[in-house]
Amino acid sequence: MTRFRLAVLAGDGIGPEVVAEAVKVLRAVDATSGHRFELTEDVVGGAAIDTYGTAIRKETIALAKRSDAVLFGSVGGPKWDDPKALVRPEQAILGLRAALGTFANLRPARMQPALVHLSPLKPEIVQGADVLFVRELVAGTYFARPKKYWQDARGGWRAIDTTAYTEAQVERTVRLAFEFALGRRKRLHVADKQNVMATSRLWRDVATRVSLEFPSVEFRAILTDALAMHLLYRPTEFDVVVTDNLFGDLLTDEAAALAGSMGLMPSASLGEARNRHGGYRGLYEPIHGTAPDIAGRGIANPMATIQSLALLLRYSLKLEREARAIETSIDDAIELGLRTPDIARPGEKTSRTSDVGDAIAAAVTRELRR
Ligand code: IPM
Ligand code: MG
Repeated sequence: MTRFRLAVLAGDGIGPEVVAEAVKVLRAVDATSGHRFELTEDVVGGAAIDTYGTAIRKETIALAKRSDAVLFGSVGGPKWDDPKALVRPEQAILGLRAALGTFANLRPARMQPALVHLSPLKPEIVQGADVLFVRELVAGTYFARPKKYWQDARGGWRAIDTTAYTEAQVERTVRLAFEFALGRRKRLHVADKQNVMATSRLWRDVATRVSLEFPSVEFRAILTDALAMHLLYRPTEFDVVVTDNLFGDLLTDEAAALAGSMGLMPSASLGEARNRHGGYRGLYEPIHGTAPDIAGRGIANPMATIQSLALLLRYSLKLEREARAIETSIDDAIELGLRTPDIARPGEKTSRTSDVGDAIAAAVTRELRR
């Protein structure tokens, strides 16, 4: 029997609602797999600002670092949205990514056959789409300095962000993307703006050099603006897309159109650090955010978070069988017609967040008892 230690940081908005369902599924794995999961919860984001005056405490970072992996909900909300505030909920997730050094953010976008009608794209275009985005996560525009918003001597407002990358920062991300491409359809695009940005020329050079080590992977460089268009016209031509922090943020929200709902988009953030079990000390979160408009109503889709949990079991805990049991159970729940409002057709019967969690937990129990 192996014991795993997980930090659970649910955050704000629908974060606590969807994380509770993932924990339910984890309990089902605990009860049927012979593995034990010790969960330590803590507050982050707006909730932490309200209680402690900071988006993430040092103690929380320390907890994350000594855990085998972190399951994260989402942070932010209108209450803390003052653009000039120095303390912002988003500092929790950005601080955690930086502290854990999770430089590669994997965001798979896959069209579930039963949900093709959800996509704004025509079925014949989106059918079969399955793209893995690898977004650089701890450098680039998000972190490089200077970054500030100030008033100059004449009273006019000014602002500056910096985009900076080193060869090493690009290389480790690109390399990991190539490694994942080997286990997939063996095609990799690097998305950049090398016609405008110096950092993009670095990305293209490094990716081209690393591609030589992966001769079985078909490598192409593409301008990010063109990719943003092609993703909607011919999504099935893409397999792995690697890109910088900011482009990756934009493209992966767009890619929700390939999955049918933001409520179906999980993510795994991986870095150099390994845990006591030899897996990645990773950070796992749905990409959908806090959805303040539906928070507290019990109707959020927990599937992205439950799918993120499956990735956590696979990459951090090396529990492939359990990860697959969760994925199969999510697919079955969709096939069987379980629908939170975000994935329901007009007039179709909808399920509540907790019904979806119950159904998936029960299915996981059946799968693992098989
Ligand atoms: C994401 C989110 C975050 C980001 C925000 C909440 C800081 O949009 O994970 O995609 O921009 O990285
Ligand atoms: Mg985003």
